[in-house]
Amino acid sequence: MGIENAGSSAPESWHRVADVAELADGALKPVVVAGNLIVLIRIGERYGALDNQCPHAGGPLAEGTLEDGRLICPWHGREYNPLSGKCEGYDQPVRAYKVEVRSDGIYVAL
Ligand code: FES
Repeated sequence: MGIENAGSSAPESWHRVADVAELADGALKPVVVAGNLIVLIRIGERYGALDNQCPHAGGPLAEGTLEDGRLICPWHGREYNPLSGKCEGYDQPVRAYKVEVRSDGIYVAL
């Protein structure tokens, strides 16, 4: 099952980042993908992957909270769409990556 969200148009390379069982519903899991720190997010059967660093002042989004389908930055409370990375009220999204759930794990495209 593939879940698509925002991504760049550059050539993609897919990286296996976790077992499906590692990510419970509502989980925020920091993972390193090709040297980039990314937060992997599960909301029900939907998955997101965002840069871990909040674009406002660098807050660690993996230490944030999920509330009503939004990811809240732990430092100043900006609210992000955990799938698209769009920021409510600010024109400063966090970079989002494509995620796929495959039979052998969760993959993120860079
Ligand atoms: S660092 Fe995230 S809202 Fe300020």
